[in-house]
Amino acid sequence: MNKFNGNKFKMDYSQFKTEVSKRRRSAATRELTKIAYSTPHSVISLAEGMPNEETFPFTEISIKLNDGSDFVLEGNELAAALQYIPSQGFPPLLQVIREFQRKAHAPPLWDSREVLIVAGGQDGLSKALEAIIGPGDPILVQNPVYPGVNVVITPHNAELIPIEQDDYGVIPICLRKRLQEREASSLKMPKIMYINATGANPTGTVMPLERRKQIYRIACEYNFLILDDDPYHFMYFTDEAPRSFLSLDTEGRVIRLDSFSKVLSSGLRIGVITAASPLVASIELHMQSSHLHAPTLSQVILYKLLKIWGYDKMMEHFRRIRSFYKERRDLIVKVAEEHLLGIAEFSVPSAGFFLWIKVPGIEDTWKMVMQRGVTHGILVAPGAAFMADTSKPCNAIRASFAKASYKEMNVAIERLALLIKDELAKNRSILNGNT
Ligand SMILES: Cc1ncc(COP(=O)(O)O)c(C=O)c1O
Repeated sequence: MNKFNGNKFKMDYSQFKTEVSKRRRSAATRELTKIAYSTPHSVISLAEGMPNEETFPFTEISIKLNDGSDFVLEGNELAAALQYIPSQGFPPLLQVIREFQRKAHAPPLWDSREVLIVAGGQDGLSKALEAIIGPGDPILVQNPVYPGVNVVITPHNAELIPIEQDDYGVIPICLRKRLQEREASSLKMPKIMYINATGANPTGTVMPLERRKQIYRIACEYNFLILDDDPYHFMYFTDEAPRSFLSLDTEGRVIRLDSFSKVLSSGLRIGVITAASPLVASIELHMQSSHLHAPTLSQVILYKLLKIWGYDKMMEHFRRIRSFYKERRDLIVKVAEEHLLGIAEFSVPSAGFFLWIKVPGIEDTWKMVMQRGVTHGILVAPGAAFMADTSKPCNAIRASFAKASYKEMNVAIERLALLIKDELAKNRSILNGNT
């Protein structure tokens, strides 16, 4: 496949790439694997370094689904599932995922985009950012931000430009103001913005459509890409389904990241990048130099599931997940209102897994959480871990409502309240000079 065929976006993508990314070349062996998958069966390949599946100890993998259906991988199908594949992904899965994305997002100029299977959202995130963020490059981030971004770009001495959020996500006027200030001071302008439009980690906000449109217009005006890392896209608790940035992307500047971690299994390690073909081609080259491709077995399992269920049953599954987590969201909000009244503040999360709790009486929650949390029998995440500048104090805490049982959740929030009260009492005592 020539990835540049049919690219109708009028964008020069080389302006966004790092020097390292521009220097990457494809490995001939990887290209041969791609060719081998697209040639007729009559062609005999002696070109690749594939092992002979007859030597593998596995003869059958059978999988039962909780809806009563099942499937078996054996013979040629099992052999394919245990073998090397092209870096872009298992070809039959790529076809199904393309159709899935087209239906779910109806992206403009669909033929100018490609999908790429990655080993989870974090893998996609790191490869996408490393194609674009080089030493000292600035990147716009929602603040607070998912720490998986910091770990990728901090070693590159990249500059994080934090943009304030409210209960509806990143605030467009703050974004514009920050860009205007940089331009006026002749500072390097950002090439990309990182965002979680639905169920932001850690705040749980969902950005309304009008705001998404405003941010997209600003991206066009200031010529930056939008990396929408959106693993909670189908896990919204709002009445209306959110519309993705991809669905608004007329100029080919959105890199959409999906993950199956939260909706099928995090252990499968499967995610999808959907973006303009030249951007996907750059990221694929990076995969060729690292893990070659996302695990084939996981890709085949996902393929079989999507074939058995089809789009509609997958959507039905997402609907069930939404009501499952919404019930948990309601419960944590209820117990937090009960136990944290007067000592902490929070907004009701509109999607995702997390309650973002602010404790106005404590300047920084880090030590309280990391040093004294366990002795109080409670583990939560300290807010500073999610700050664009992690060295700054932060009075927030992130609590997940995804996994603990209802009973545990109640006890956990009760213990958190005690931990906070003890900390507040300790601070008061220090203020009064009683060390
Ligand atoms: C916003 C965000 N991005 C990426 C990830 C990583 O997920 P994956 O398991 O798909 O790598 C997470 C996981 O918590 C997340 O919350």
